[in-house]
Amino acid sequence: MGDSRNIVPREETMSNGFTVPVLGAEKSRKNRNEVLKMRLRPDDVIVASYPKAGTTWLQEIVWLICNDADATLAKKKMLEDRYGWMDKPASLPGNGLEELNAWPREQTRFIKTHAPFQLLPNEVQNEAIGKLIYVARNPKDNCVSFYHFHRMNKTLPEPGPFSEFLEQFTQGNLVLGSWFDHVNKYWQVSQSRERSMYFVLYENMKNNSKEEIKKLANFLEKDLSDAQITIIANHCAFDNMKDNDRVNYSRLTASGLFDANISHFMRKGKVGDWKNHFTVSQSEEFDDLYRKKTEDWTLEFDFGL
Ligand code: A3P
Repeated sequence: MGDSRNIVPREETMSNGFTVPVLGAEKSRKNRNEVLKMRLRPDDVIVASYPKAGTTWLQEIVWLICNDADATLAKKKMLEDRYGWMDKPASLPGNGLEELNAWPREQTRFIKTHAPFQLLPNEVQNEAIGKLIYVARNPKDNCVSFYHFHRMNKTLPEPGPFSEFLEQFTQGNLVLGSWFDHVNKYWQVSQSRERSMYFVLYENMKNNSKEEIKKLANFLEKDLSDAQITIIANHCAFDNMKDNDRVNYSRLTASGLFDANISHFMRKGKVGDWKNHFTVSQSEEFDDLYRKKTEDWTLEFDFGL
């Protein structure tokens, strides 16, 4: 494990020809090729994201929506055990894909993934199957959160100073590649899959969580009362999730893979923390790149300005 901190992501081409930087090239390629072949079930619920976009938050919200806002039940089991992580890295305990394949037929499968759209199972790529929810976050905050995650997560490379990490982020060299490509591809697909795919923004969840929970429930075809929506919003508020050891990755912290002396998984949970990390010139440079890369996007982000 110690050595893994010096390993840098390497571009790997998967069996369908899609190339992306990954860690632990051989194992990761094998696993991702297996994911491509994974069989879907019509009632699968998939939560997808670029890492650090608010995946865990969305996972808890989605799980509660699908389980009648039963917060007591949610507290009985680790979130990691309520979801199977389709593309879980080999450096973490357990095999997500095997867990998902063995999931009881009579239970809805809750699936987490950070895979770019092109590395989702072929079945989901080719047709609208199950429910797919993608969460995206403005790239400056996403980058800052990913930076601190690299600092504290011993299975990821040492990030070095923020300026270097930002450079890697903007060039799309980090594990799983470019934020721009990841987000844009899911956004494009979501535009033609209204019933099976839903695109949510971290900043909207932060600014008006009840409204977003309602829309998500609607998408998931669940009829929840206002009281249930309130229960979910409260249970999933940052301060409550931070203190909830069923969702704050206490297990990985206890096992030493996450170093709480460096940073916490539930770190700040804010919009605009990038302002404490980017210098003025880094911000201006990033804005230039952002303008160029998103010229023809119909998607807009709230940077907390
Ligand atoms: P910060 O590092 O900016 O605090 P992911 O789950 O995709 O790894 O994303 C983690 C990020 O989401 C972290 O961001 C974390 O604090 C934030 N987060 C987790 N739960 C949250 C919540 N309930 N409200 C707001 N942000 C949350």
